[in-house]
Amino acid sequence: MAGSLTDIVHPYQERIERELHILTPFTDITTLHDPIAYFFTLPGKRIRPLITLITAENFYHRYEAAVPAAVAIEVLHDFTLVHDDIMDEDQFRRGHATVHTKWDVGTAILSGDAMVALAYQKLLTTKSPHLITMIESFTDGMYVVCAGQARDKAFETRDDVTVNDYLAMISQKTARLIALAFELGYLSGADDTDLLADLKVMGEHIGLAFQVKDDILDFAADEKTLGKDIGSDWRRKKKTYITIGYRQKAAVDPQFPQDLFALPEFNLAKAAVEQAGILQEAQNFIEERLQKAQAIAAAINFTHPIFNHLLQFLAERKY
Ligand code: IPE
Ligand code: IPE
Ligand code: MG
Ligand code: MG
Ligand code: MG
Repeated sequence: MAGSLTDIVHPYQERIERELHILTPFTDITTLHDPIAYFFTLPGKRIRPLITLITAENFYHRYEAAVPAAVAIEVLHDFTLVHDDIMDEDQFRRGHATVHTKWDVGTAILSGDAMVALAYQKLLTTKSPHLITMIESFTDGMYVVCAGQARDKAFETRDDVTVNDYLAMISQKTARLIALAFELGYLSGADDTDLLADLKVMGEHIGLAFQVKDDILDFAADEKTLGKDIGSDWRRKKKTYITIGYRQKAAVDPQFPQDLFALPEFNLAKAAVEQAGILQEAQNFIEERLQKAQAIAAAINFTHPIFNHLLQFLAERKY
């Protein structure tokens, strides 16, 4: 079905989920064990580990050596989500209560911190001649995500954020980890590292497309299908592809309410954004970036059949 991941990715997702299931840390401390185990069982898409595994398969025909790195990037991503939900004050994640609402903020902070440690523990079990490079990239990934999240937060109280400011911010908060997923899969094998720069650029295009789709979904998705709070970006005055695009359109067309964030309810903001045609502009941006990614993939022989399925999913996803 368009908009969903199909059966061909299930074996990869199941493998990651099995690995997460056997990661049962802090068994003697329920206040740390339970929220982590809870979060690991929530139905995430597992996109980043999927990317790591198919990248390894593409270049080395087997993904086994990349499994520790794939688990590590999922766990690092999970840390960012648990803390992001505190920062964005959201109630739902993956169709269930966020950790800080089911437990409390302190528990969520500590669970996220512990996930970083678990992610490194897992990464360090990788058997690859490039392990040091992998650790460096992983650490850079975490550093850059923090920078992006800080900018995202700072933009909430600014109304002069440009599309370029926004793209620089999402390059950090989202695209860096998507690019890292490709890098880790490639570095898990013994090849020389010639294709690393191309994979990074390809991952950046895909990551930007990924976040712009996330921004669209915050306005336009069905909340139950998405499994996250709809309208969260509008409530927090986030500067997204949608809200910045709207401000630009309203500035030259007085028929539109000038301040999207001043509207009394989310449905009015959603209607204004739809009427201004911003969602379609965002979709066009996504398709351009995915085409750029596809061109790089062709040039570096990234021909894994799941890759095209993934790009199509990223363009059409509903969750
Ligand atoms: C959500 O990522 C955070 C963003 C970077 C937009 P995903 O949409 O991959 O979340 P899960 O892992 O499937 O829940
Ligand atoms: C999050 O961006 C990026 C992260 C680093 C977690 P969002 O705040 O838009 O992600 P969601 O929509 O809550 O998943
Ligand atoms: Mg959020
Ligand atoms: Mg956020
Ligand atoms: Mg979002």
